[in-house]
Amino acid sequence: MGAQRAVQAHEGALTWPYPSSGRPSTSPRLELDLAVVGDAYRTFTRAFPQIEPAYAVKANPHPEVLSLLAGLGASVDLASVGELDACLLAGVDPRRMSWGNPVKKPSDVRAAVAAGVTRFTTDSAADVDLLAREAPGAAVTVRLAVDDDGSATPFAGKFGVPPDEAAALLRRADEAGLRAHGLGFHPGSQQTDPSSWRRGIAACRRAAAVFGGPVAELNLGGGFPTVHAAGPVPGLQDIAAAVDAELDGWRPHLVAEPGRVLVADAGVLVAEVVLVTERAGRRWVYLDVGRYQGLAETEAEMIVYRLRCPGHPPDAELGPVVLAGPTCDGDDVLYRRADVRLPVDLVPGDVVEFLGAGAYTSSYASVGFNGLPPLPTFTVRPPTPERTPD
Ligand SMILES: Cc1ncc(COP(=O)(O)O)c(C=O)c1O
Repeated sequence: MGAQRAVQAHEGALTWPYPSSGRPSTSPRLELDLAVVGDAYRTFTRAFPQIEPAYAVKANPHPEVLSLLAGLGASVDLASVGELDACLLAGVDPRRMSWGNPVKKPSDVRAAVAAGVTRFTTDSAADVDLLAREAPGAAVTVRLAVDDDGSATPFAGKFGVPPDEAAALLRRADEAGLRAHGLGFHPGSQQTDPSSWRRGIAACRRAAAVFGGPVAELNLGGGFPTVHAAGPVPGLQDIAAAVDAELDGWRPHLVAEPGRVLVADAGVLVAEVVLVTERAGRRWVYLDVGRYQGLAETEAEMIVYRLRCPGHPPDAELGPVVLAGPTCDGDDVLYRRADVRLPVDLVPGDVVEFLGAGAYTSSYASVGFNGLPPLPTFTVRPPTPERTPD
């Protein structure tokens, strides 16, 4: 009953950014291949058979992604009431939900509890006290701060506490009538150094030793990297080996919160050239998509996407460009420093595709900056049925 109330309260906001069907030629658009999402999930669970995967909804909250992953058995990691409602609408069992955002309002916790969520991540005394008031008896996981060197989009100290403080928060939770349940960390998104997970686990072990009581759960966060223009990234097997080595026989219930690794490869962001011109000796290419229609991760050129121009032959002559978005903002420039090369005969109307763009694109698009609509998503293939291994 509580779940129903929460869904109704937010239903309009949830369905709005997602067109329901068809494959229009609107530009820009995100084309999302659900079969690739399913394959990515199966690859993840094969690499980490002992781990409960809790999909980080923020990476791509499209309803079909949520129902596909829920159907395959994934849990979910929530950051807001909007994500909670999206998951309820997609049929995710609240027992498979955990609230991973350590920054919450009382109304967030109330909505989560009303829906049946019982697992929360925290990293401050004030938040532990809030949970004790609004979610008595809930299971609490304390997030540790880890050195996120190697991450393309580091948290830079925004979240987490050192081991001593984590132990104190577990104690505080216990004394306040919560369940001091687990420890965890997030090594920073697009993390290319497997030893980052080792550092996180080592910090959790220190916290567990200081706490002294049982620690039932260890949350390894997200961060699992995907391929972009920067070239190869460590495979999931490399990260799994690092995790195993550092666990060294420690066997709490393991959870991970993969986001981008489950959806990035499924997405192609299709855009169109609006203007090509020379400025100060450089060729500027302006697209109909930019920082505000879903390419937020180009900020500081953190993520440099692989690009493809389907209207040009694979051996077309390429030349360097500055790649810019369509809005009036000076910071709506995608790449000035990165070595981005596009066909020298590119003209307005030509299509430019961003590969590996299924994560953190549609969910980042603004509601209408410069009057431009949010990035629509079109699913292009149904999920493949469960395949038996060769
Ligand atoms: C708490 C939490 N869990 C999981 C994720 C997913 O991370 P990724 O997409 O790098 O796997 C994020 C991303 O910011 C996060 O904040």
